[in-house]
Amino acid sequence: MEKVFTAEAKLSNLETLSAMSRRILVTSALPYANGPIHLGHLVEYIQTDIWVRFQKLQGNEVYYFCADDTHGTPVMIAARNRGISPEELVNEMRKAHFEDLTSFQVEFDNYYSTNTPENRALAEEIYLKAKEKGHIHRETLNQLYCEHDDMFLPDRFVRGICPKCGAEDQYGDSCEVCGSTYRPEDLKQSRCAICGTPPIQKESEHIFFKLGDFQAYLEDWLKTHNRVDEGIRKKMHEWIDQGLRHWDISRDGPYFGFAIPGEQNKFFYVWLDAPIGYIASSLNYFRKTGKDELFDDFWRSEEHEVYHFIGKDIAYFHTLFWPAVLHAGNFRTPTSVFVHGFLTVNGEKMSKSRGTFVRASTFLKHLDPECLRYFYATRLGPGLDDLDLNTGDFVARYNSDVVGNVANLFSRLVSGIASKLDLQLSEGLSREGKKLFAEVSGKKEAIAGHFERREYARAVREIQALSDSVNRFISEKEPWKQIKADAEAARQTVTDAINAGMALSLYLKPILPVLSGGVEELLALESPLTFVQELKPLPAHHKLRKYRHLAGRIETAAFDAIFEEERSAAAEAKKEQAAGAGSSAAGNSQGGKNQKSSKKAGTAKSDSAGEAPVEDSGIITIDELEKVELRVGRILSAELIEGADRLLRIQLDVGEENPRNVIAGIRSAYNPEDLKELSVVCVANLKPRKMKFGTSEAMLLATGKDDGLTLFVPHRNAHPGDRLG
Ligand code: 2FM
Ligand code: ZN
Repeated sequence: MEKVFTAEAKLSNLETLSAMSRRILVTSALPYANGPIHLGHLVEYIQTDIWVRFQKLQGNEVYYFCADDTHGTPVMIAARNRGISPEELVNEMRKAHFEDLTSFQVEFDNYYSTNTPENRALAEEIYLKAKEKGHIHRETLNQLYCEHDDMFLPDRFVRGICPKCGAEDQYGDSCEVCGSTYRPEDLKQSRCAICGTPPIQKESEHIFFKLGDFQAYLEDWLKTHNRVDEGIRKKMHEWIDQGLRHWDISRDGPYFGFAIPGEQNKFFYVWLDAPIGYIASSLNYFRKTGKDELFDDFWRSEEHEVYHFIGKDIAYFHTLFWPAVLHAGNFRTPTSVFVHGFLTVNGEKMSKSRGTFVRASTFLKHLDPECLRYFYATRLGPGLDDLDLNTGDFVARYNSDVVGNVANLFSRLVSGIASKLDLQLSEGLSREGKKLFAEVSGKKEAIAGHFERREYARAVREIQALSDSVNRFISEKEPWKQIKADAEAARQTVTDAINAGMALSLYLKPILPVLSGGVEELLALESPLTFVQELKPLPAHHKLRKYRHLAGRIETAAFDAIFEEERSAAAEAKKEQAAGAGSSAAGNSQGGKNQKSSKKAGTAKSDSAGEAPVEDSGIITIDELEKVELRVGRILSAELIEGADRLLRIQLDVGEENPRNVIAGIRSAYNPEDLKELSVVCVANLKPRKMKFGTSEAMLLATGKDDGLTLFVPHRNAHPGDRLG
């Protein structure tokens, strides 16, 4: 078993953690060079950046690497449509991606490209090593081929009529109307998505990576603690149990990619060289910064830590192919792969037609990037759960937490009071000030632990509770009154509260680097705050700087404007497409990352990299349906709720240790006494909903309304907790 430094092991002794510097290499998935950065991408970059910033503040030696993922058919066709070379296109995209990401304060140590000499050399080295060890296999495939474009057509470059439901203009791999999946050859009246010519079937020899050779290795790899989250571990076991098929790693030319050494007109499939881009980006950086020796230390030994942040749609690539390919090529494997869920907007999948497929650049025109960082942090944990950008919550949380609680604290103290006291603090903390400072600074290690485990939502809750304490302290002291009667008392309040506020600013620094930078400036600190040094009160009679704006309130109207702008851009693009500009499959410019259907990831011959996203049609897949947990529940008791004439409070047995509390709007049709012992059907995995009268922990299924409302009840043989379906 490999030697591994897990985040958890480190946490067993946080004292040691801060004293000992770790070497950590971190990556985020490489954005595909066929579309702009959007809010879905940013979940991952912000999640990673918060972790990287935190690790740097812990005094660790951390390197954050990324690059543009450049190869494949979509880029080749997009460049052709624009009449430029693929190289020109990927250079342009790389610049745009870098600019978008850094505008959100995502701070890379190197942002490179997969279309580079380093990546070519590494891809060849790994492939040749795998070949030498006997892990490469050849097989002839029959595939659709466009004689006009002289190329084999990836699944998404074939369009036609769905063989199952007859829907027109469907992709070669799945139907957006009925949700079925099929082979491109099964499509009726199929045609090339680039030129419209009906394809022919043609044979070609492909090169495969024998993933099955690594079954035992991968099973063992997984045994190491914390490689992946529990959900992904289970999924990986399922995939391994289904049998690991050979992975097709070649594509015939014309193809924008690296030629496979020793072959004629064959190129590495984009997914082979994309993750190698992580290594190439680091190689480029270590060479140019004269740290060459770190390359081998990181990649050819287990001495240090390597972490990949990715979305759940590309887990198969990173937890099966990637460790196997690295092992075959004599490279080390990642310490852990951190997998996150997808982004939804106001409870729905991002949609271009609704305007919720928001590009980073559009967001930046209307809102401060730190708002997004903050909101994502309030929702992020270490698991696979999807993250919903509810615009109402977004605006309310930012205004109340960041503006109302934190920025306002400094503005009230400094521009309201200290400015009238020569910006000078008192000699030291008062007795109460010491207590407040101890309360806030005493949470440093707990908050560090939350960041370490990527429990950002918990960290934020903790920080906000502390900032409530500081604000309460100020409200009780009323320095705006003190200053009129006793200037020194007011100075003392400012001193006590500002010192506690300084600790809050440190805690927020990984999430809100700009705001925290502003606070450090305001406090005229000698050196920036970190998690390493002890938090100490500011020196006696310390002089502050003049208050400068830290954060301002935001309005939901900003989102209205963002969505409107995206809606009209999408409508415009549609018009252009209808007028014949660009190709239907390749001309899509919104990228698909983090939003692709996950079903493809499990297939050994996936061709999904960078392909056009599936625009939502209202149809859901079996996987999506399975997310809804419908269960039988038995009503143990039901009662009226005072002040709520439409609701009943219900205790519902769903086969768990304790009954659930359910608040149901069924009063108009049911008397509480008639419900006792009734079996019903409920949605058991709906997020608990806080209501005025308590939290509702499940939803009962019903139809109709008012006195015509009726609950769904199981016919017979159903027990509390039984799952439907
Ligand atoms: O899913 C995607 O958008 C890919 N471009 C991610 C690649 S990550 C790594 F493997 F390069
Ligand atoms: Zn064609």
